Formats: sequence, C-alpha cells, structure tokens
Amino acid sequence: MDDDAWDGLKRAAMNARAHAYAPYSGFTVGAALQTKSGAVFTGCNVENASYGATICAERAALAAAVSAGERELVALAIASGAKSPTPPCGICRQSLIELAPSLSIRSYAGNGCVEYDLASLLPDAFDRDQLD
Ligand code: THU
Repeated sequence: MDDDAWDGLKRAAMNARAHAYAPYSGFTVGAALQTKSGAVFTGCNVENASYGATICAERAALAAAVSAGERELVALAIASGAKSPTPPCGICRQSLIELAPSLSIRSYAGNGCVEYDLASLLPDAFDRDQLD
C-alpha cells in the first residue's frame, strides 16, 4: 500500500463514519478494508439499546467484505473523533485475525495517524489450529 492508496482508504473510512449509529456512546467510528482485488469495503459502528448487541465499525467492514465474497484482506483504515488515533478493540482483533493474520492497520483521528500490524496487536491468538 502506497501513501495514495492509504489516503483513499482513510477517506473511505471517514465517509463511512458519517453513517455511524452511536446514540449511546456518541463515539462514531468508520472503517475501510482494502482487499487483494483492490476493492474497498466499509463499515461503521451500529449501537443498540441492548449494549452488547453493538457492532464495531471494523467488524461491519469485515462482514461487508466477506458477504461480497472477498476474504483476502490487505489493509484497514479506522477513523474516529477521538483525541488521538484509537486501535481496534479486542473483539475486532480476534475477528480480523481469522482471515488476515498480518493485516496492516492505520488509525486516524484529527490530524493524527498511528500504524499497527494485527499480529503485534494480538500475539498468541486463538486460531483454527487449536481446534484440531
Ligand atoms: N467502536 C468501534 O466501532 N471500533 C473501535 O475500534 C472501538 C469502539 C465503537 C463501539 C461503540 O459503538 C463505540 O465505539 C464506543 O465503544
């Protein structure tokens, strides 16, 4: 991913954030996933009066990609209105690592950007090998 590609992915995440449904936390998040084919899939957080039913932006984007038949995930941009860029939550780390153990992640907030790689965010992940 070059900087132009990251810029496009960042914009897609920011656009998705505008659709977030977050009446309880007020914390709106957008995510954009780039797949190997070059397609981009977006998601936003969708909260619920039963708080535990809330879906994070990252998992919404993951579901959009997989629902379109795309499983080769290359990069993830996250956009929020936090004071500084935020990493994906633990549940999203586990969800994403299922298909993309070495996913590149950039998180944006304000003028800030922080880069992560998923393998470092979730070492010793539980995965399919442990089901054998
Ligand atoms: N949230 C996300 O969508 N992604 C993250 O990476 C962190 C948290 C959402 C869940 C909830 O709707 C709100 O942000 C506050 O936790």
